[in-house]
Amino acid sequence: MEVQWVGMETLRQGAPNVAVTLVFTLLLGVWSAQALEMSVGKIPFLEAVNGSTVMLPCTYASCIGIKNLYFNWQFNDNGTMVKVCESVIATETVTPDVSIYRERVDFIGKNRENNISILLWNITFEDGGLYTCFGRNPKEKDKNHSAIFHLIVVDELRVVDNTLTIIIASAVGGAIAFLMGFMLLKNFTLFVLAKLEEKNKECLVTSSGIDNTENGLSGSKADSKPTPKKK
Ligand SMILES: *[C@@H]1O[C@H](CO)[C@@H](O)[C@H](O)[C@H]1NC(C)=O
Ligand SMILES: *[C@@H]1O[C@H](CO)[C@@H](O)[C@H](O)[C@H]1NC(C)=O
Ligand SMILES: *[C@@H]1O[C@H](CO)[C@@H](O)[C@H](O)[C@H]1NC(C)=O
Ligand SMILES: *[C@@H]1O[C@H](CO)[C@@H](O)[C@H](O)[C@H]1NC(C)=O
Ligand SMILES: *[C@@H]1O[C@H](CO)[C@@H](O)[C@H](O)[C@H]1NC(C)=O
Repeated sequence: MEVQWVGMETLRQGAPNVAVTLVFTLLLGVWSAQALEMSVGKIPFLEAVNGSTVMLPCTYASCIGIKNLYFNWQFNDNGTMVKVCESVIATETVTPDVSIYRERVDFIGKNRENNISILLWNITFEDGGLYTCFGRNPKEKDKNHSAIFHLIVVDELRVVDNTLTIIIASAVGGAIAFLMGFMLLKNFTLFVLAKLEEKNKECLVTSSGIDNTENGLSGSKADSKPTPKKK
C-alpha cells in the first residue's frame, strides 16, 4: 500500500514537470525562429520505390515579409552540391519563373501559400540522397537559410513500411524509456526516503503498541476498527 501511494505521488508530480520542460523547449524553439525559415515538413525524409514519382516538399515563412527572395533546390551528389532548380520570388503572391537544371523535375509549389515544392518524375536509384531547399531574403542582409530533405529510393514497398515503423517505434520507445527511467529514478529516491521515514514511524508505533498492551488498551483499538466499515 505504502509503495503504491509513493508511485501515484511521483506520477502526479513527475508528469507535469516533464510536460512543462517540453513546452518550454518548444516555445524557446519558436521564439528563436529567424526572420526567414525554410521547412521541408515534419517528416524530412521519404522512402519511395524506383520508378515512382515523388514530391520534395518545401515551404518558406517570414515574419518580416519577403522581397525578391532567392531560392534553390540542391542535390548532394556524392559530396558535390548540384543545383536542381533556382528562382527569385518577387513577392508572396506571384508565381516565379523557375530555371530547372535536372531531368524529370517540375516546380509544382507555384509559390502558392509560400510553397516551393518540386516534383521528381520516375525516380531512379541515382536520385536517392539529400536535397537542400535553400532560401535567401535580401530584406534580412542576405542571410542564408536551408532545410534538408532525404529521399531514399528502395526496390520494394514492403521495406518502406518496415523501416518507417521501426523509426517511429524507436523514437516513441526512446521517449517512453526516457520518461520511465526518469520516473523510476525519482520513484526509487522517494521510496528510499519513505522507507527511512517509515522505519522511524515503525519505531514509534511499536513502542506505543507495547504501551497500549501494557496499559490494557488493546481492546479499545479492536473496537475502533469496525466503525469505519459501517460508514
Ligand atoms: C527498380 O529496380 C529494379 C532493380 O534494378 C528493376 O528490376 C525494376 O524494374 C525497377 N522498377 C522500376 C519501376 O523501374
Ligand atoms: C563518390 O566519390 C568517391 C570519392 O570521392 C568515389 O570513389 C565514388 O566512386 C563516388 N561514387 C559515385 C556513385 O559517384
Ligand atoms: C515517366 O515514365 C513514364 C512511363 O515510363 C513516361 O510515360 C513518362 O513520360 C515519364 N515521365 C518523365 C517526366 O520522364
Ligand atoms: C505544395 O503544393 C503541392 C502541389 O500543389 C501540394 O501537393 C502540397 O501539399 C503543398 N504543400 C504544402 C505544405 O502546402
Ligand atoms: C550564403 O550562401 C552563399 C552561397 O549560396 C555563400 O556564397 C555565402 O557566403 C553565404 N552567406 C553566409 C552569410 O553564410
